[in-house]
Amino acid sequence: MGLIPQHFIQDLLNRIDIVDLIDSRVPLKKAGANYKACCPFHGEKTPSFNVSQTKQFYHCFGCGMNGNAISFLMEYDRLEFPDAVEELASSLGLEVPREEGHDNRPKIDNSLYDLMAKTANFYQQQLRTSNGQKAVNYLKNRGLSGEIAKQFGLGYVPDAWDSLEKLFGNFSNNPKLKQQLIDCGMLIQKEGDSSRVYDRFRDRIMFPIKDKRGRVIAFGGRVMGDGEPKYLNSPETPIFHKSNELYGLYQARQANRNLSRILIVEGYMDVVALAQFGITNAVATLGTATTASHLQQLFRTSRELVLCFDGDKAGRAAALKALEHGLPQLREGREIKLMFLPDGEDPDSMVRKVGQEQFNQLVQAAQPIFDFLLKFLSDQVDLESVSGRGQLVHLAKPYLEKITDPIYLELFSQALAQTSGLDSDKLESLLGSPQQVATTTNKSAANQSQNATNPHQKTASGRKKINKSIQLAITLLLQSPKLGLAVEQFDWLLSLEQAGPKILHRLLEIIHKNPTLSSGALLEFWRDDKLYQRLAELAITEREERIRGNEAQEIADCFKALLQEARTQRLDHLQQKSSQEGLSAAEKAEFQQLLLLSKRQNN
Ligand code: GTP
Ligand code: MN
Repeated sequence: MGLIPQHFIQDLLNRIDIVDLIDSRVPLKKAGANYKACCPFHGEKTPSFNVSQTKQFYHCFGCGMNGNAISFLMEYDRLEFPDAVEELASSLGLEVPREEGHDNRPKIDNSLYDLMAKTANFYQQQLRTSNGQKAVNYLKNRGLSGEIAKQFGLGYVPDAWDSLEKLFGNFSNNPKLKQQLIDCGMLIQKEGDSSRVYDRFRDRIMFPIKDKRGRVIAFGGRVMGDGEPKYLNSPETPIFHKSNELYGLYQARQANRNLSRILIVEGYMDVVALAQFGITNAVATLGTATTASHLQQLFRTSRELVLCFDGDKAGRAAALKALEHGLPQLREGREIKLMFLPDGEDPDSMVRKVGQEQFNQLVQAAQPIFDFLLKFLSDQVDLESVSGRGQLVHLAKPYLEKITDPIYLELFSQALAQTSGLDSDKLESLLGSPQQVATTTNKSAANQSQNATNPHQKTASGRKKINKSIQLAITLLLQSPKLGLAVEQFDWLLSLEQAGPKILHRLLEIIHKNPTLSSGALLEFWRDDKLYQRLAELAITEREERIRGNEAQEIADCFKALLQEARTQRLDHLQQKSSQEGLSAAEKAEFQQLLLLSKRQNN
């Protein structure tokens, strides 16, 4: 299916009223200009969940969840983006259009799911045959109950090259079926004679891997003896993308109405053993490191992720890798913790040794991500020495740069400052100020430090004033998009060096194309952008009473200041150019005019 066109999404957001939508699921009470309720996303007794009808946006001051109507359905009904759009559209009796030609994802043959389901059933049945007796013994030896094996659909694949042909019937009569089984990774074509095929999985314990909807999409197969490889997994197929899938997520969601915490472990056996001991919130990556996509999906289901690693060096290395993906995804109300098991243990062996209660205590005692990071980095340097403390800051820098949430960034910077003994203002200026949207990207932070050595650049206070104008203008546009209609020309914003004006430009462009946009609909354009959270925060910032009401003038002032800044930057540029390589006639004329304007400004 093609992509959903952005204009349709905007149209939907325009027609839906977020107050009606949320009220039908979470009864709202009018409170001043807004509506309130106890937050459906975290437990609370006094309501801090706010819905704004004018902005078409919700926000919880307790847990930080926020978004528009689509976001609400994604979070509350746990839908993927396209499904949330479908849901909204059908409530209005609309059909979701799809763009042609923009989608290069291969079409999925739905019958692959049927084949996988039939295969999984067949493997499960094999446990009840005499062939399967040794598999049953293996599972029993590993302490698995029949009940848990059934719950996870464990099975056995016989020691034969043609089990699938026996199950599905002679392939020579059915080349299409044969091809489908090749496509979903169950059959392998013989080298040198691709017309001949054989079963990928033979004589193994089979773990069916299910997608979020409970459909079998792949298998993991474990040898019962010491053979190699210990685990054989399905290859990438049209229905199985290893780095997106998590073993046990379907079962965990089935077993828990609300998953407030998810445990991420390494192995199939870990998930199954934990479940047998009543710890039903564990999932495993499929022999790969934890990816950003894994974390993203899990955060859609749960607020707290606990990554479980072996206590050895490899475990720590794996933890660090996972952190790199985790840091950018942290925001208010989301938490990542790490737990390390004693050397030589995995969750399977551990829970069998200490039992549910003690294992849960270990989970409870998991280290918050920043505590781990700070301790891990500190352990690598000598904090007693000046150079050691310097090294600490250098080591921490790449991680700091990955934190996108301004509050977490501030807190971690503070902790780092304390440990290194650096003044936190100093630390901030050494690492580039992360506070303003105007300097959010690393690139612009780099520009800024270059600017510091450029004699043409103005003072820090001048820069601060400009950044303030940028931030205020962005805030005003996000809060009342209509204001942007008064700004007629804005392409000159693109000539400014900072990142902020480019955001302003994009905002204005969108607003001019969609003059009736709400804040919530405007933010939709940044849904998957790393700036989203920061922009959402600006959109909900409460403005002080005394400065409200004069927004039109305020925004005009901002743009006036910015235009002046654009001219100054251009003037500086031309001045520099004239002293280096000279100016063309047109540039000279422009230069004269800019000089004149700037004199007028100063008088
Ligand atoms: P048991 O030995 O059965 O308890 O499994 P385990 O999960 O403790 O094994 P291990 O810690 O060695 O591996 C963790 C995970 O890595 C497994 O669940 C597999 O997903 C994956 N894995 C382990 N060995 C192999 C292998 O040989 N090949 C592949 N592709 N994946 C493996
Ligand atoms: Mn194990």
